[in-house]
Amino acid sequence: MDTLQDMGTFKVVPIDGALGARIEGLDRATATRPDVAAGLRKALGDHLLLEVPGMPMTPAEMRDFSSAFGRFRPQLLRYKRTSEVPEVSVMVSTLMADGTTDKTALRSEDWHTDDSYMATPAKATLLHAIEIPSSGGNTWFCNMRAAYEALPEATRKRIDGMRAIHGYDTARARNRPSARTAQEIAETPDVEHPLVRTHPDNGRKALYLNFNRLDHIVGLDRAESDTLLDELAEHCRQPRFHFAHEWTVGDCVIWDNRATMHRVDVDYPMGERRIMQRVLIEGDRPF
Ligand SMILES: [Fe+2]
Repeated sequence: MDTLQDMGTFKVVPIDGALGARIEGLDRATATRPDVAAGLRKALGDHLLLEVPGMPMTPAEMRDFSSAFGRFRPQLLRYKRTSEVPEVSVMVSTLMADGTTDKTALRSEDWHTDDSYMATPAKATLLHAIEIPSSGGNTWFCNMRAAYEALPEATRKRIDGMRAIHGYDTARARNRPSARTAQEIAETPDVEHPLVRTHPDNGRKALYLNFNRLDHIVGLDRAESDTLLDELAEHCRQPRFHFAHEWTVGDCVIWDNRATMHRVDVDYPMGERRIMQRVLIEGDRPF
């Protein structure tokens, strides 16, 4: 069992669950100090998910805080980039009474890892609650390292070395994504990634799945690929791998996309504003 770590300027309190830790006592304005930034990155590596409570940040403040975790990568969809600070996207997932909602809400309803349709997906994501509904809207996280390690040895042997095609959309996803501009389409051809990913920081393996983007496994016919992907999906849907973050305004949550998936409960009241700021951190090519 993990124990509480005192990093000097803040405490890392492990969450009693499948993954994650809560950062207590941190002044976010100090996050870019080299010792503080190193401590935060270590905590993220150890726990895969960090909850950092605090006051709401402006986009510029969030950009500065996020730089503790690495370099920025821009959000694909231009309409989600705020004009004043392009590194910070505004994600509106308010449910509208007339049925028009931003696709972000519905697409995020099923398990995914951010950006896997890119050749070099974001290694981490920061999500910051600006306005939240009066109830519901929890974000769930799945520990894909634990899910991989819990697979039967025969399955691990079978899938190690397999590669899979991720695309901006796939018929396997429950919901369709937001439309892309011609430029955005040109930027997002289908890409191939390993089905089992090795973490570059510690060499540990994790399943690399995305129920919204993963289309098929290379070298298998469609039926065989669907069967295997469905089996792996069912495995990952087991609650023992999951943890739910219940949002408070001002929370900033950071997760490692290389060893987790996440989803949101779209169960909040119609018409109540749900607005998050998001930053993506540049990653490496999965191997
Ligand atoms: Fe996401």
